[in-house]
Amino acid sequence: MFNKTPIAAVAAASLLLIAGGCSATNAGKTEAAKPMAMAAAAPAAPAKVDYTKMSAKDLAEYLIFEAEGYDLKQATQEGTSGRDRLVQDEIQKACSLMKGQEVSDKDREKVMALAAASIKYPEGGIKLGDWKKGRELAWSGFGYRTAHNPDDHSKREAGGNCYNCHQLATDRTGGDIGPSLTGYGKNRGASEDMLKYTYDVIYNPHTYFACTNMPRMGAVGVLNHKQIADIMAYLFDPASPVNK
Ligand code: HEC
Repeated sequence: MFNKTPIAAVAAASLLLIAGGCSATNAGKTEAAKPMAMAAAAPAAPAKVDYTKMSAKDLAEYLIFEAEGYDLKQATQEGTSGRDRLVQDEIQKACSLMKGQEVSDKDREKVMALAAASIKYPEGGIKLGDWKKGRELAWSGFGYRTAHNPDDHSKREAGGNCYNCHQLATDRTGGDIGPSLTGYGKNRGASEDMLKYTYDVIYNPHTYFACTNMPRMGAVGVLNHKQIADIMAYLFDPASPVNK
């Protein structure tokens, strides 16, 4: 969403300050930028800016980076901080297009290659775990929600949130942003190729679906190898409600 680095945002905000506050003087921009940037960085006295002259994006960046309206130190699922989370990685950059635009073939290939390179396989190969555990994870949206009460991961593990986008089984109702996975193992079988495909999709779906809406649950560290094995068992095990 925010493609500027924090440093670029500071520079952009200071230019806006010049435009809004100092436009009467004809001071050279480079000379004026220094004191203005310092004033903007001082947390005690927020600089006066003209919100009405800012684009929505510049305003958002101002409020986040300058006015400290967001907890940039907050931990995120990538094991990093809120500030890092506002900086796009290569896949996000390639996929951040204006509405209606198609990803180019070149970007698609780049995204798929980056995604494939991000995948780490478990020692001893891809195995199915416990489908009952997987069912809990697939139907849990707990974890990494940020607001006034960020989720406490010491009390409960983060889930895979699959149900929000997929219909998974006939005993409960799931979402429809992604395709229905009902009957997944029964219909497709549990061949080695099928297990690898499914593991890859859960770990980093951009490997097959460049710029998909599906989150990169393995690559960003939300789900570990064991949790993925459990969720895969839920999809493949003949006893699982997915295949009933
Ligand atoms: C935010 C929505 C979203 C979430 C959450 C999500 N998915 Fe998906 N998933 C999708 C979409 C959309 C696709 C279709 C790929 C595309 O075309 O973008 C997909 C595709 C898939 C596929 C491939 C389907 C096929 O027919 O081959 C599998 C398997 C899958 N998801 C499993 C899961 C599992 C397991 C979880 C939870 C760990 C999950 N998904 C979470 C949106 C989501």
